[in-house]
Amino acid sequence: MPLERDVNIESLLKIDAELNEIQDLDILLERMLNEARKIVHADAGSIYIKETVEEEEGVFTDKLHFRYSQNDTLQKLLPPGEKLIYSVFSLPVNEKTLSGYCAFSGKLVNIPDAYNLPPGVSYAFGKAYDQISGYKTTSILTVPLKNAEGNILGVIQVINSKDKEGKTVPFSDEDELLISHFAINVTLALQKARLIRTMILRMIKMAELRDPKETGTHVNRVAGYAVEIWDRWAAHHGIPKEDSNKFRDNMRIASMLHDVGKVAISDTILKKPAKFTDEEFKIMQTHTSEGYNLFDDPQSPLDNLARDIALTHHENWNGTGYPGWVDPVLGTPIKVREDGKPLGKKGEEIPLAGRIVSIADVFDALCSKRVYKDAWNEDEVLQEIRNCSGTKFDPELVDIFFEILPHIRQIQQLYPEVG
Ligand SMILES: [Fe+2]
Ligand SMILES: [Fe+2]
Repeated sequence: MPLERDVNIESLLKIDAELNEIQDLDILLERMLNEARKIVHADAGSIYIKETVEEEEGVFTDKLHFRYSQNDTLQKLLPPGEKLIYSVFSLPVNEKTLSGYCAFSGKLVNIPDAYNLPPGVSYAFGKAYDQISGYKTTSILTVPLKNAEGNILGVIQVINSKDKEGKTVPFSDEDELLISHFAINVTLALQKARLIRTMILRMIKMAELRDPKETGTHVNRVAGYAVEIWDRWAAHHGIPKEDSNKFRDNMRIASMLHDVGKVAISDTILKKPAKFTDEEFKIMQTHTSEGYNLFDDPQSPLDNLARDIALTHHENWNGTGYPGWVDPVLGTPIKVREDGKPLGKKGEEIPLAGRIVSIADVFDALCSKRVYKDAWNEDEVLQEIRNCSGTKFDPELVDIFFEILPHIRQIQQLYPEVG
């Protein structure tokens, strides 16, 4: 048995174990695509997830939602730390496109040359991506992600296999085997991550019953922005990739849960159409410590992070936020100001995750329409974020936010407001 093959199998096992540890669906999809590309030396690729959507009342159709795209050749043209921007779209599950066909038939498709498709195939190759990006797609391997019951969960498409000299070659029979094996092994991790996402969104739905602003799309966007801000912060601070990856998984989930403590606040307060009285405002502010108290496993890094974020996402960099230095379990002040109220946490006293979610949450709230206000336009929102640098927000994070603005806009596309 050649050595290279042994190494492949060993690394496959290691990858399976690593992917199984990932809890968040988006983080997992991104990693899956990355690992799939590595296994078959693919220069580029995309990953799709299948969802059943209700297009009109009572009419359900299967769609393939494009989630992530990677391209080493185009990536190398960007400055270090930058990520590619790609457009987000959905495809019908049918024979007309390559990925659609793969999801429709459940079959692996290996195309040596995209510009010379075998005669008689039902699908066409979409040249738009190559035309826009200047990239040349040649070999394509498309594999369905199928669970044990044979249901298609999604599709991985890898593009342009590279040989040792970096030349583009067709995907081999061995590549087909390796990627099929990979696709089978990751479905459990994928199903687990989907289940976790579903459960989290159900928790959010419960909070939404109290506060209609806390929707699934809002929290998905806030979590998406938070991870992008974290990635850039970690790159600036030289955090090792492995640590940063672990943290981003927890960060994604914990950020979604920032306001889940609102389940504990009464409807008469949260749904009040008029301004809060001082007393009502005080009660509303306790959603932070109520959220903290929902996550009570000190052994779990996810719980610890969810606690930090729930408790501190309304603290301000200059110490004017809430709840400040309180004991979140007892609700009593730990440090007090002259007037007896709890002292606000300020600067780096506020955990980094809380500082990150603060910007992400405010940005999304300002961009969204709310009962009491219209959506602001992007210029106004950005001006506001800039104005709050050093007062409400950590100035370093505001700078990072502006550096990654194209990615923030991409997340808005990935999780658009519905209805
Ligand atoms: Fe909040
Ligand atoms: Fe929020």
